[in-house]
Amino acid sequence: MFKKLQGKWKVNGWNLLLIISTFALGGSLCGIVGRKLLMLSGIEKGVGWFILYIIVVTLLWPVSVLLVSVPLGQFSFFKRYISRIWHKMKGDKTVMGSNQELTNIAIFASGAGSNAKNIITHFKNNPGINIALIVCNNPVAGVIGIAKENGIELLMINKASLSVQGECLSVLTKKNINLVVLAGFLWKLPPAIIEAYPKKIINIHPALLPAYGGKGMYGKHVHEAVIANRETESGISIHYADELYDHGEIIFQARCPVTPTDTPESLAGKIHQLEQDHYPAVIESVLKKQNPR
Ligand code: GAR
Repeated sequence: MFKKLQGKWKVNGWNLLLIISTFALGGSLCGIVGRKLLMLSGIEKGVGWFILYIIVVTLLWPVSVLLVSVPLGQFSFFKRYISRIWHKMKGDKTVMGSNQELTNIAIFASGAGSNAKNIITHFKNNPGINIALIVCNNPVAGVIGIAKENGIELLMINKASLSVQGECLSVLTKKNINLVVLAGFLWKLPPAIIEAYPKKIINIHPALLPAYGGKGMYGKHVHEAVIANRETESGISIHYADELYDHGEIIFQARCPVTPTDTPESLAGKIHQLEQDHYPAVIESVLKKQNPR
């Protein structure tokens, strides 16, 4: 049950504990204050008193949990939570977070996961976007810890489950994934997944495609090649993915200078900064274009 709540609310175990504590303390606070208010009003105990008590407690509850959430560091969670209840009560069909509106993203990653982490952080307070799944093919990848810290379901795959058996695609379908984000995922996606997600798979590459892309061109290999060729600039490319490595319509590129003193490591640092600055925002703009509200 706790795992389910972590996934639903997109929080780690520690935050879940603080959220449950806020519910408990906020609930008790509004119960006590409600009782005191009714005592002060001098109304006799009876059915009327009880009905009034329910009304007062219901009105006080949002204020109490918001108050308690501040010292427990959960204010933004409860602000979102209460605003969602409010919209539902008003019957607002466009409320973000209802099933029709929710965008479920799956992040595929093979490595450290700095991009995955940045994307998770960026969308954490966005009630319309849910990072529903992390897919990983590398049992020692840093991204595994990031999935666990954030309470996001993790799917470990091998070549067979990705391609032959179709297990990966069936999990994507079961979890209603509407967008696949590749964040340092080093295997080619099988045609079945590409076909199931036309213009719904985005990749980031640490160079200015079409240059320095393709099989074997990842991580420091890209930067080594750029420096060996004495390029004066490099950058990042964000593109729709197709069945080829680092191929498909380019959505966005950002550039940085390459100086004669740059090493693959220093260039990697510049590229990393560009990725951190742009990838989540580009994902968000793609989603806005695809689902204009
Ligand atoms: C990123 O630099 C990304 O651009 C690159 O892998 C790195 C993953 O880092 N992707 C490719 O090279 C794709 N061909 P991360 O695991 O820290 O996000």
